[in-house]
Amino acid sequence: MDFPPLLNDNLLRAARGEDVERIPVWVMRQAGRYLPEFRALRAENNFFKVCQTPELACEVTLQPIKRYDLDAAIIFSDILVVPQALGIVVEMKPGVGPVLPEPLLSPSDLERLKFPVDVKEKLGYVFEAITLTRHKLEGKVPLIGFSGAPWTLMCYMIEGGGSKTMSKAKSWIYQHPESSHELLKILTDVTVDYLVEQAVAGAQLLQVFESNAEYLGREQFEEFAIPCLKRICEEVKGRLEKRGIKSVPMTIFAKGGHHSLKQLGSIGYDIVGLDWTMIPGEARSLVGPNVTLQGNLDPCALYGTKEHIQKLTRKMISTFGKSRYIANLGHGIYPDIDPERLKVFIDTVHEIH
Ligand code: CP3
Repeated sequence: MDFPPLLNDNLLRAARGEDVERIPVWVMRQAGRYLPEFRALRAENNFFKVCQTPELACEVTLQPIKRYDLDAAIIFSDILVVPQALGIVVEMKPGVGPVLPEPLLSPSDLERLKFPVDVKEKLGYVFEAITLTRHKLEGKVPLIGFSGAPWTLMCYMIEGGGSKTMSKAKSWIYQHPESSHELLKILTDVTVDYLVEQAVAGAQLLQVFESNAEYLGREQFEEFAIPCLKRICEEVKGRLEKRGIKSVPMTIFAKGGHHSLKQLGSIGYDIVGLDWTMIPGEARSLVGPNVTLQGNLDPCALYGTKEHIQKLTRKMISTFGKSRYIANLGHGIYPDIDPERLKVFIDTVHEIH
């Protein structure tokens, strides 16, 4: 596909371990409710309607790019579009978050899943949004595609929404390990197809969100999450190469995955995202020198004063160093953050040479 030439490739350079003109910075959930222009658009449109309408998804993706000097855009969508593609109903309830009214209650419910999934048919709207956004970005910054990781998606599909303990999803791991593996395999297969098509549609970097890593211990993570994450990376890269698409870097962000940072650095991902509880120096020694790190300012630091944000941002960068590094928050930005505070974070990153 022919797209406008990329004018700012600092994100991709950092991903490959090359020198950068400035430290690249983007922010998880940068297109979101903290922006008044997002809230205005959402007031008129249901959450999944925004995801499913390429023009709206594109508009929301571009909102933070228009406002800030960011180094990447991330396509507006949600990790839960994959369970939807498998036939599971997902609703976004204001003030509650995602609700899945008919969760998987027992292994026999796996029969309800509409698998295999033709991702082009079921998730074609995401690919259209990506292609449209690549054009509308006019090469300003690269566009990131993403998906949820299988274990994290399994949690939502079994819990029926968010949970403090993930005890229902974890009970599957102990009571039905084989069915758990079967579900994880289904999710891994769909995720591979989904990410490949995102790159074909124009995504220039792919991030996998393992937001529920913290609920598994090391051994469980090694058995139920790592093999899926490894296969996703290997198969996506292999399939893209066969289709003549090279150098689409991949990021793994495993929130709370302290126990497995070393493994996460050794399964093929170019970038390991760190949450705000992780210590940059320790993470670097665990993942080794050949992986780029991304993160990890506490999202709540943006409640502080301008001076405090500047101080914490400079301190963060001094611990990461400037090479093989992408600045970000250590989880998504909160809806009640003052947009001006985010500007302070972004501009402070760029002032450092
Ligand atoms: O700007 C971006 O980062 C791109 C868009 C994006 C959204 N969700 C939009 C969204 C991305 C990358 C996601 C990923 C996502 N979705 C994750 C992984 C990242 C993480 O936070 O750990 C998860 C776990 C989900 C599932 C999900 N979607 C939850 C738990 C919630 C409710 C939390 C909340 O902030 O209310 C959502 C809703 C959601 N996804 C919103 C947005 C902008 C807010 C809902 C709204 O607009 O009403």
